[in-house]
Amino acid sequence: MSKRIKICVNTGGGDAPGLNAAIEAVTMAGYNRQWEVYGIKGGYAGLIDTDEIIRLTPEKVDGIASLGGTILGTTNKGNPFKMPIKNAVGEIELHDLSDKVIGNFHRLGFDALVAIGGDGSLEIAHEFAKKGMPVVGVPKTIDNDMGGTVVTFGFDTAISTATDAIDRLHSTAMSHERVMVVEVMGRNAGFIALNSGISGNADVILIPEIPYDIEKVCNKIMENELHGRKYAIVVVAEGARPVDGKEFIKADAEIGREHVILGGVAEMIASEITQLTSKDSRSIVLGHLQRGGSPTTFDRLLALRFGTAAVRAIEDRKFGYMVSLISPNIGLIPLEEALKINKRVSVDGDTVMTARDLGISFGD
Ligand code: F6P
Repeated sequence: MSKRIKICVNTGGGDAPGLNAAIEAVTMAGYNRQWEVYGIKGGYAGLIDTDEIIRLTPEKVDGIASLGGTILGTTNKGNPFKMPIKNAVGEIELHDLSDKVIGNFHRLGFDALVAIGGDGSLEIAHEFAKKGMPVVGVPKTIDNDMGGTVVTFGFDTAISTATDAIDRLHSTAMSHERVMVVEVMGRNAGFIALNSGISGNADVILIPEIPYDIEKVCNKIMENELHGRKYAIVVVAEGARPVDGKEFIKADAEIGREHVILGGVAEMIASEITQLTSKDSRSIVLGHLQRGGSPTTFDRLLALRFGTAAVRAIEDRKFGYMVSLISPNIGLIPLEEALKINKRVSVDGDTVMTARDLGISFGD
């Protein structure tokens, strides 16, 4: 009798709405092929300390597609190739635990891993693929900065949440004749700011791809005044930077963490606007609200399509690949190729042109 195929799935990096839908999809597509499916808890942590592995069954994933977060837990600190561990004198050292992960993977009899993550986690998946581990990647991130796919799940929910928040700011901004500066996530990509800013009828959108000049931002606000619009909405990506400056870093990357923590740009811009225009300004940071809540129908469906496509890729032994949306279909792209792409807002693209034609300023 041949051995039953046994696959496992993990989620890594910042959570994104749609992760549970992807887990459900992998589980059901595996189950319907008579495979055994297991969930690794906490990114790769569950393959270092293997107590953290759970059997995924239809009962376990029933109805989770509509839930935010991930039932498997996630982390943006757990790179097994550079795991921070305290030594005897309390100093943190980075250890390569990748062989332990691979050893446990084989000892437990797994035939493939579905790694669901953003660029950081998929970089780790690629490193494991290079060491011979049979891995298929599934891209997720609210930032939409993962190359090789038209879009990632999580993004649509994040822009819907951000647009809803911007919509709500119009009435209070108008009532007080204020400038409201809204900071949204996105790291070094401006997709969330651009899409929610246009949809939410912002006056100014500031994105990392187009460095801003604060004087030009203020000119736009004052021009609006001349036309009788006495309030303004400025949507700023957390990674936006002035023409003569750098992005705003709230905290440096801790040892073992993927990235620095960005933040603070909205507060700075609001205070500069008040100084330069004498207009009352307030800043608001949407933060992790953008990662929360139930995934939109688009994200849910995309995650379900990605998850099942990953199982079909395993069936076809397409290891080292990432599932991707190549509209209108789901396809496969080598992880290596996808990771080489630095996906950013195209400054000449039609979405930026749309904003400009609507009279929205980028502060340039
Ligand atoms: O990459 C997703 C993201 O939400 C970014 O938009 C943001 O900069 C970062 O993660 C925040 O990370 P953390 O959850 O560690 O605060």
